[in-house]
Amino acid sequence: MKKQLSIFFLATFAAFLFACSKKQAEEIKPETPTTNGPTPVTTANVTYTNFAGALFQTKCNGCHGPNGALKSIWLFNGFASVKNDTRVANSILVTKTMPKGSTLTVSERELLQAWFDKGMPE
Ligand code: HEC
Repeated sequence: MKKQLSIFFLATFAAFLFACSKKQAEEIKPETPTTNGPTPVTTANVTYTNFAGALFQTKCNGCHGPNGALKSIWLFNGFASVKNDTRVANSILVTKTMPKGSTLTVSERELLQAWFDKGMPE
């Protein structure tokens, strides 16, 4: 009788342990990825607002901005100043003379190319 009882307790204890470890394994499952983070910019969704504007601001504004020494050749002054001047795409993608003194990464160039190809969406 005593032996039966201890087997019963052992079995109960084992079942309890098993249940606990199983529950824990369920709890540490990685979270499903959230969808409310920023959407990455790709050649499919590139716009002036999500990419191109900031690039002109950092790569061109120093020389061509309202306080730049080269503003008389081309004044960078927001969306319209890029959209209405075909020399911009030409200088970056065809003659590749701009941005003078710095370079664009392969992915920056690809995104800009896609943006010009789409007709420069704002
Ligand atoms: C370090 C200064 C500097 C920066 C930065 C710069 N430029 Fe220029 N840009 C010049 C100079 C100098 C000229 C005059 C022509 C030349 O020397 O090639 C010029 C000329 C131009 C012209 C007119 C002539 C042409 O090539 O059609 C355009 C358009 C132009 N730049 C666009 C840009 C754009 C777009 C950027 C940014 C991606 C940029 N530039 C960055 C210095 C700069």
